[in-house]
Amino acid sequence: MENIAIAIDGPAASGKSTVAKTLAKRLGLIMVNTGAMYRAVAWATIQKDVDPADSEAVIKMLGEVEFSCGVSDNLSTILVDGVDPGDALRQDAVNQRVSKVAAIPEVRELLVQRQRDYLQLGSVVMEGRDIGSVVFPDTPFKIYIDASEEVRRQRRAAEGIVDELGKRDEEDSKRKTAPLVVAEGAVKIDSSELSIEQVIERVLEILKERG
Ligand code: C5P
Repeated sequence: MENIAIAIDGPAASGKSTVAKTLAKRLGLIMVNTGAMYRAVAWATIQKDVDPADSEAVIKMLGEVEFSCGVSDNLSTILVDGVDPGDALRQDAVNQRVSKVAAIPEVRELLVQRQRDYLQLGSVVMEGRDIGSVVFPDTPFKIYIDASEEVRRQRRAAEGIVDELGKRDEEDSKRKTAPLVVAEGAVKIDSSELSIEQVIERVLEILKERG
């Protein structure tokens, strides 16, 4: 049987990572966190002292730093020159830089290719911003998870993370290349008033209807 891709997109802190992780575990699929890949590039700009807004410098860095993508325990992993940045990917300095590097077409080209390559390893649940629109536009399994900005802010605060969500979402939605959009054919779920379990139930229903 051919490997399938379940695309889960949405803004920051919409709950998509938790949903994707739980779903992948239940269905025995590989969970791919594409935000971590863009975060790894942003983290590398800090290590290499590269201005994330200077696209030429970032593109040059892409040729000098090795980003290796893999899988461990059914979860995607990323190493930067052999180093796992770990929790550093979620630090404030990375939050501030990530939308800038993610707006550079060459960065997206490199990472989208790596994301598509995962399908050779098995069926995937992939979460991000452009999975249904750009990475796997032909998959019938497209979900867009949203939540009100207030609920999303509360979720981040509960995790103890400083994150200017509004600013990041605006940058992600307004960029020219692969902006955050509800992909054609995607089913939208508003998770503001739902528990993770309820969102998962809804996703499972959608998969059944479309499978
Ligand atoms: O999902 P997460 O919040 O970790 O994503 C971090 C950032 O990576 C996003 O704000 C966005 O700029 C970028 N991103 C992207 N496309 C994706 C996944 C993430 O541009 N598919």
